[in-house]
Amino acid sequence: MEESIRAEWTTRKLTGVAFALLLAATLMAWLAQNSGLNQESVRNTMIVVAITSLWILAFRLLPTRYYQRWPSEVLFALLILLSVALVWCSPLYGFFVWTGYLFTVYALPGRWRVVGAGLVAVVTAGSQSGGWAILQTGGGQLLFAVLFLVNAGISTTMTWLEIGKMRTTEKRIEMIDELAQANQKLEAALKENAGLHAQLLVQAHEAGVLDERQRMAGEIHDVLAQGLTGIVTQLEAAEAHPREHERHLSAAKRLARESLAEARRSVQALRPQQLDSAGLPAALDEVVETWAGLHGVRADLILTGTARRLLPEIEATLLRTAQEALANVARHANAGRVGLTLSYMEDMVTLDVRDDGDGFEPDRPREVTATGGFGLSAMRERLARIAGTLAVESEPGGGTALSACVPAIVLGGAA
Ligand SMILES: Nc1ncnc2c1ncn2[C@@H]1O[C@H](COP(=O)(O)OP(=O)(O)OP(=O)(O)O)[C@@H](O)[C@H]1O
Ligand SMILES: [Mg+2]
Repeated sequence: MEESIRAEWTTRKLTGVAFALLLAATLMAWLAQNSGLNQESVRNTMIVVAITSLWILAFRLLPTRYYQRWPSEVLFALLILLSVALVWCSPLYGFFVWTGYLFTVYALPGRWRVVGAGLVAVVTAGSQSGGWAILQTGGGQLLFAVLFLVNAGISTTMTWLEIGKMRTTEKRIEMIDELAQANQKLEAALKENAGLHAQLLVQAHEAGVLDERQRMAGEIHDVLAQGLTGIVTQLEAAEAHPREHERHLSAAKRLARESLAEARRSVQALRPQQLDSAGLPAALDEVVETWAGLHGVRADLILTGTARRLLPEIEATLLRTAQEALANVARHANAGRVGLTLSYMEDMVTLDVRDDGDGFEPDRPREVTATGGFGLSAMRERLARIAGTLAVESEPGGGTALSACVPAIVLGGAA
């Protein structure tokens, strides 16, 4: 765009100068010829001037920018011919012929400009020598040769310098174009980046929502479903054994109260109440003892290694794992004994829960339905969230062993 404005402006300037000089030279030629009053030469001159005017018009109207070669090159060749004719009419047209140098730089490509300047120098030397007639004498030829060399020397040097200047300008324009293109690309990349950023935010939000949904599902299972199952079991026992009625009823009430409190804590994303006052071993001890009392099954907790306070999330996960494992023993195992081992090692902490019950086939997990089947997978997900793992070993009639392994990240940062 800028390029075409520049070319347009140069064309106007060039043709304006050419036309003004053609008129001036015509006036002078007319005055000079009028003194001799040769009608034929006046007519010839007017014809050549008319053709040259048409040439100027053509140069103005045709696409003669230096990068659109053929009209420029043809027009330049015509200009040289017209210049020769004009000088033939009157040497005073040397004033117009001189503009050929300007057209050379504009209309010819690369080094052709030097050749063009040489041709203009020939015509200029002809005009300065007083017309082509001088070539008929030996002394005239010498004068012509000297004038040509002076003209050619000056013009080719000037043209050479002009070519260098134009090349620098072209390079600068190219660089500006490249810069503009790079800017456009950068802008496009920034826009794309903004889009990706927005997409990432949406995905992060969705992932956060999904994570929270999984956490809530786990909490509902571990707190509400387990509590309600325990309550139902106690109420059924109260019905079945009227003599133990009171004991089962109070156990059911206690379970209801505890589950309610735990549900409230879950909503606020607080850790289990048992862990609030005591460390994990003591909290596990309480859970195991209560469970054994409720279900009348012997359960022991063994502690190995040196116990230390772990990150709340890790302790809560291990406690929930033990609770679900015990709930499963109570519901599915018909076990006579349960053993839990909590081992504190250097980099990890493990919790094993073994029972001597009916066992099952871990390779064929039960489907998740309205009545359950969510416990083990929720346990696995909960452990995965803290970079922990779960292994289940069991076979029908061979009891069940469940092993959870978590990183030992100590509260306060030191391992
Ligand atoms: N200690 C165990 N002894 C025998 N079978 C078990 C034991 N633990 C789990 N199972 C079997 O694995 C299945 C899946 O257990 P999971 O805890 O995932 O679901 P659930 O206990 O049936 O239901 P819920 O979603 O209420 O926990 C159980 O239905 C049961 O058949
Ligand atoms: Mg279960």
